[in-house]
Amino acid sequence: MNVSSLCFRASVLFVIVGMLWGLHMAISEDHSAFPAHAHLNLLGWVSLFLFGVYYRFHPALERSRLALAQVWIWIVGTIVMAIGVALVHTGHDSGNPFAAGGSVIVLLAMLMFAWLVYRREFSGNSQPG
Ligand code: HEM
Repeated sequence: MNVSSLCFRASVLFVIVGMLWGLHMAISEDHSAFPAHAHLNLLGWVSLFLFGVYYRFHPALERSRLALAQVWIWIVGTIVMAIGVALVHTGHDSGNPFAAGGSVIVLLAMLMFAWLVYRREFSGNSQPG
């Protein structure tokens, strides 16, 4: 599977879960977990979809093992972080290590993405491909 396809497929699943979560918060009138909903949507939908757009524009990265690892690490980090933030904001301190761990994982994945972008954009050819 192309890296961009993985991004697009995973991001639409994340946003469906995120929107259902938002609806649940609205209907139950309990917004306490909203930071987790916000992170799930912004990391899992917006950022992941944007990664997909970048990879789709640069076909040379579509089969890159580093790019594939970057996306999987991002997906795992998003799930771990959303669970941790949800636990913390609903009064469960046990969520702290998950929120912290997830944050470090997504930071690592963003550093990998930054490396891929800088390597590509400084290669002297920023044209697609
Ligand atoms: C069915 C769709 C959605 C519903 C029903 C929903 C519902 C909610 C609710 C109830 C809150 C809490 C508001 C508060 O207490 O201040 C919230 C916050 C938030 N949502 Fe959603 N949401 C939806 C989709 C999305 C999507 C697609 C995104 C991002 C792309 C998003 C991003 C956010 C953000 C960033 C916040 C935090 C806003 C703040 O800081 O006050 N939501 N949402």
